[in-house]
Amino acid sequence: MSERKSIHGEWSSGMAFFLAATGSAIGLGNIWRFPYLAGENGGGAFILVYLACIVLIALPILIAEITLGRRGRESPLNTFRRLALDEGRSRAWAGVGFIGMLSGIIILSFYSVVAGWSLEYIWLSLRGAYQGASADRTDQLFSMLTSSPWQQMFWYTLFLALTLIIVARGVRKGLERAVWIMVPLLFVLLAVLVAYALVVGDAHAAIVYLYSVDFSRLSGHAVLLAMGHSFFTLSLGIGAMIVYGAYMPNRLSIMRAAISVAVADTVVAVLAGLAIFPLLFARHLPVAQGPKLIFASLPAAFGSLPFGFLFGAAFFALLTLAAWTSAISIIEPVVSWLVELGWSRPRSVLAVGSVVWMSSMLIDFSLNVWSGITWQGRTLFDLFNFVSSDIMLPLGGLLIALFAGWVISERSLRQELRMNRGALRLWLWVLRYVTPVGVLLIFLNALGLIRGAL
Ligand code: PFF
Repeated sequence: MSERKSIHGEWSSGMAFFLAATGSAIGLGNIWRFPYLAGENGGGAFILVYLACIVLIALPILIAEITLGRRGRESPLNTFRRLALDEGRSRAWAGVGFIGMLSGIIILSFYSVVAGWSLEYIWLSLRGAYQGASADRTDQLFSMLTSSPWQQMFWYTLFLALTLIIVARGVRKGLERAVWIMVPLLFVLLAVLVAYALVVGDAHAAIVYLYSVDFSRLSGHAVLLAMGHSFFTLSLGIGAMIVYGAYMPNRLSIMRAAISVAVADTVVAVLAGLAIFPLLFARHLPVAQGPKLIFASLPAAFGSLPFGFLFGAAFFALLTLAAWTSAISIIEPVVSWLVELGWSRPRSVLAVGSVVWMSSMLIDFSLNVWSGITWQGRTLFDLFNFVSSDIMLPLGGLLIALFAGWVISERSLRQELRMNRGALRLWLWVLRYVTPVGVLLIFLNALGLIRGAL
């Protein structure tokens, strides 16, 4: 076990780590992206493949990230450098931490725009803005929001400010305190919303749509989507779990913690579908793709259901909370690195926040004033989403798997993981061979190199 101490502080308990890491994992990916992907790509069959990907690809990397973090006890960039030097390898491995920080900034710039919409929808729900509105009308309402640069700016600026305030207060007083309140609240809201959807919605249709196992709807491409999503949903590839591991007390079992996080994240993803689809099917609403599923179709359902304004507000509060606890984990790797360079935490937060705010502005404008500017048919919003989720995260994950599997000695890993030799060997074997091949497939798919073949 490493005797190093983090200069940033430590989680006070195993529960604190669990809440922070689960808060990071549960985000827009679970509540909006997963249900939609599952519904479109074979329901239960997709979910089975996704579970296999979680176990074979994502979980081994999650364990690796937490292990590296706890051994290095520094920001991801400095952890890579330090651990590589410990093993007598090149300090250039620090570049993996750098790629991660860059991906984090890119992800957060569109994540905060979407979270900003979610914040605004809490307000719209409470005001009854979409009560009794048709699907066309709620679609229009959403288009109006995205076509107004200043209105959008107000909401993502607010979301970023809320995120930055927490990170500026540090690990114990900021992150830990926030997740103690927000993550349990998130679970309560989800339970209430699932119960509501099952009572007032068409649960049968939703269950058939989501969970019937239909392998004929499962294409090769869907398998790769499931793999990519398993990655995004566990917050892998940018160093978020490395930095959270750096704050984990030595006495905790990494394996147990990682499995709990993966299970909680998966349960939430599966439940989120049950909070959404029964409502849409009850009103025979279109299962829209992309952001519209939540921001155009779903409000039309809430708008015509009993107490819809209240449950609508609760749904968007849930989405905002989920995005918020993820956002803090996206910037912590960069902030911790600046603090290690000697900057104060508030100053580091302000610097990172300004950069993210400016790139959010690019995303904002790409949806309205610059919507005509596209590259190969993609707006900047699509491009940022694609480059970060489909290219940079898998690349970061691949390098992390190679680093933990091939650069760090088995002895160091055993000291940190403290598990029996057989289990360690199995994990290492998966990490060395299965995970890199899987990630490589996602990566080639994202670049369009194997899409035609599948
Ligand atoms: N896991 C988050 C989600 O499912 O929405 C997204 C995410 C958070 C990705 C943190 C990467 C990250 F570091």
